[in-house]
Amino acid sequence: MYRDNPLKRISWADYQQLSVDERAPYFLRKGKPNHTLFAQQFDRPLVERICELATRTRRIAKTRGGMRFLQDLLAEKRAMLYFSQPSTRTFLSFSAACQILGMQTNEVRDAATSSEIKGESHEDSVRTFSSYFDLLIMRHPTKGFAERIAWLLSNSERPVPVLNAGSGADQHPTQALLDMYTLQRSFEKNGGIDGKRIAFVGDLARGRTVRSLAALLRHFDGVKAYFVAPDELQIGTDILALLDAAGMAYEVTGDFRPVIPQVDAIYMTRIQDEWDQAQESRLLDTSAYHFTVDDLGLLPPHAIIMHPLPRRAEIDPAVDRDPRAMYWRQVRNGMWVRTALIAMTFDRDNEIDRYHADLIR
Ligand code: NCD
Repeated sequence: MYRDNPLKRISWADYQQLSVDERAPYFLRKGKPNHTLFAQQFDRPLVERICELATRTRRIAKTRGGMRFLQDLLAEKRAMLYFSQPSTRTFLSFSAACQILGMQTNEVRDAATSSEIKGESHEDSVRTFSSYFDLLIMRHPTKGFAERIAWLLSNSERPVPVLNAGSGADQHPTQALLDMYTLQRSFEKNGGIDGKRIAFVGDLARGRTVRSLAALLRHFDGVKAYFVAPDELQIGTDILALLDAAGMAYEVTGDFRPVIPQVDAIYMTRIQDEWDQAQESRLLDTSAYHFTVDDLGLLPPHAIIMHPLPRRAEIDPAVDRDPRAMYWRQVRNGMWVRTALIAMTFDRDNEIDRYHADLIR
């Protein structure tokens, strides 16, 4: 089943010479994501397919018979969750997604409990996981580490798929997919994602969810992004170059309030001060980038408020009661999107389509 894995056919040195766009085809198997490593590997049809599959899966899961069908779908597979950075939602939703599909899971969340403490390299640890498991879901503080592991495993006798559950301050592709799914569902009766205006607010320099989501939004027509942050925390020029190349409109500003009435969605983020060298962002006053109950009056009635969570003070909990607050739905959507992605990774998505077709007949 691991035939046709293009990462086998390229050396690590040659791979590293490739641009992000050139790398993407190396992660595909039969046109489906084998490894999921960064958002740039997903084009519009793939994003839409994953959304469709997520909706079908959640519909199927509503009945006992449907749940039995899902639990049989990947019953012969086991997944390893290797999270060497803190996580609540990403970890639990991946774990729940595996359970929905009948996969057994195991986890290493603290390198201090593994042989890494005895000096074993990350590479050898991961190679060990692949001996016992059929899927590796990993979060790691180092940019590009998941790619390295995907290449390494592809060139081993156990070339299991790798899903990046967050890599440094760089990428969080599955969060971007669930964010797209949330946008798509929210604007289902309002023209979909095309033509929407979306403000990203907070720490855009180190917010990997924003970087990944911006990369996906460029595939949609007439979308405009507003990057709202203090200069020190503004979005990276690499992401702006990506949007420029796609002809996507954007504005970069430090002034939050005037943006609120103009947008269809506001994507709030936390200040990622775990990356601070010398507490520099802790010393910044970022309170102008908080969304308060008063701001609800500025927000258009149809617009939505998103957040990848965890939040601190950037959204007042009193905002949660407003029907435009969508962040708790994002949490739930994440489970279904990850279920869909895993089913697709193992090329079982057509079985979901068939079951769903029978269900709605
Ligand atoms: C985010 C992350 O880990 O990148 N959380 C998540 O996965 N939903 C955002 C954050 O940590 O602020």
